[in-house]
Amino acid sequence: MCGIVGYIGNLDSKEILLKGLEKLEYRGYDSAGIAVKNEDGIQIFKEKGRIADLRSIVDEKVLAHVGIGHTRWATHGVPSRGNSHPHQSASGRFTLVHNGVIENYDLLKREYLADVSFKSETDTEVIVQLVEKFANEGLSVLESFRKTLTLLHGSYALALLDAEDNNTIYVAKNKSPLLVGLGDGFNVVASDAMAMLQVTDQFVELMDKEIVIVTKNEVTIQNIDGEVISRTPYTAELDASDIEKGTYPHYMLKEIDEQPAVIRKIIQHYQDEQGKLVIDRDIIDAVNAADRVYIIAAGTSYHAGLVGKQFIEKMAKIPVEVHISSEFGYNMPLLSEKPLFVFISQSGETADSRAVLVQVKEMGYPALTITNVPGSTLSREADYTLLLHAGPEIAVASTKAYTAQLAVLAILAEVTAKSRSLEVGFDLIHELGLVANAMDVLCDSKEILEVIAREFFSVTRNAFFIGRGIDFYVGLEGALKLKEISYIQAEGFAGGELKHGTIALIEEGTPVVALATQESVNLSIRGNVKEVVARGANPCIISMNGLNMDEDSFVIPEVHELLTPLISVIPLQILAYYAALHRDCDVDKPRNLAKSVTVE
Ligand code: F6R
Repeated sequence: MCGIVGYIGNLDSKEILLKGLEKLEYRGYDSAGIAVKNEDGIQIFKEKGRIADLRSIVDEKVLAHVGIGHTRWATHGVPSRGNSHPHQSASGRFTLVHNGVIENYDLLKREYLADVSFKSETDTEVIVQLVEKFANEGLSVLESFRKTLTLLHGSYALALLDAEDNNTIYVAKNKSPLLVGLGDGFNVVASDAMAMLQVTDQFVELMDKEIVIVTKNEVTIQNIDGEVISRTPYTAELDASDIEKGTYPHYMLKEIDEQPAVIRKIIQHYQDEQGKLVIDRDIIDAVNAADRVYIIAAGTSYHAGLVGKQFIEKMAKIPVEVHISSEFGYNMPLLSEKPLFVFISQSGETADSRAVLVQVKEMGYPALTITNVPGSTLSREADYTLLLHAGPEIAVASTKAYTAQLAVLAILAEVTAKSRSLEVGFDLIHELGLVANAMDVLCDSKEILEVIAREFFSVTRNAFFIGRGIDFYVGLEGALKLKEISYIQAEGFAGGELKHGTIALIEEGTPVVALATQESVNLSIRGNVKEVVARGANPCIISMNGLNMDEDSFVIPEVHELLTPLISVIPLQILAYYAALHRDCDVDKPRNLAKSVTVE
């Protein structure tokens, strides 16, 4: 995780770096720092906490045209000022920021740096000390940097300053994302284009094991052997307003409200001139060639995969398995003869998923990535990509990406079904249109959902979410939303499973949110609610219009049964939002988390 930025040009770098880091705060917010360089040397400002804390200690009077910055999600060493980046070599000549994890840092310390006294507990400091060691032995800075990189095992996006050189930022990447942005008389470096949209929309992608020498007028990319590589820049198609909160108090609320528009945008993107849903023929051929689809994902995206399995199996009649990416690598099931791997990832950067992608590509299997971020690592490295078109998702808790993932999975299932001459039995474009309308209604129901959130979640220390079939999967997502932003211990269960042990946790007043959107299990889930109520639970039944009963707390509009997850999740997102707000939690930046999880 972590985010890095760099600037070299004619302007004062401080504000550009700080603004850039603010846009990267979603990648980690345990501590932050910048290093700027001018004729007086390198000055470092760093602080535990958020970018706002860093901003308050940066000396306004220092002017510098070169600088690097970092926002941290702690991996090695507690969040503290000492462990914050930038880190410096023993003599102070080299200064470095790093996103990633160096797995062999301890070994490198013992083997090469036994006589160096380290100032931090981080893996990163090893890198900057190695560069200095090799420079002291007579290598040029570039050679020292290159030699250091050849020794590193793990992931890194790096930006390095040399106190003896005012004109260069040295940059390198392996596994962690990194871009170089191009400007007129300046160049920039960033983990994500969003950070530098303030100054440019022209970016060059970097590949693993590349080194870049960035000056204010030139960007030279080399591979690890020193061969120069030329690469055409691309225009980042992001609107700066997409990444602003506007009048919303939190990104999460803005992103919840964007969901109807996202669904409509997805319909547009995947529709041809005749009004038919279409997906690249190559992708549909790959799905049809598979005897089994393996969906690999983490967290919310994994929950979307569980629903996606229902779509693909029910519509396209292809068997699907859904796996948690962090487990799959070492606990691989017996694979079918012709598997297709489908990676679902909002960020396209999740290291756990990427590790599986690398593994299955080595095994020679085809892979499709469903992601919100074009050009992301998972997108680049898979054979095929389907984009979510949800616009940047900034809040750490994923909302619009989840519903966008469901919509794209439904479209994939439908187009595949049609290509196999299977009848899906409904008009998906029409039904998704109704879903978007139902979402509008739900987004307008915040007042009543705020009251429900106050009633159920203001004081409780735990909560359960139950459902059967597809509702169970949405319950898992509802529980994740609630726990990650309100810190209430929340778990999702299959309706019938609670009584096999967990019902022991039900006490007087324990909230149990039950989803009832499926006719075939409506009575049985209500039976499960009665079981917990008999033990003192406080039930919050969320049902679909047509299946509702007097005791229900909230009724969602009717949509096609298979598509209910796209809308039943919305009250759960809004309940989680207000629960967090009422408990004074930081909605957009919950503790211990980061938006893009780039460590395994
Ligand atoms: C929860 C959340 C996470 C992510 C997970 C995977 O709200 O956002 O659980 O879903 O870290 O991230 P992506 O989808 O970027 O691979």
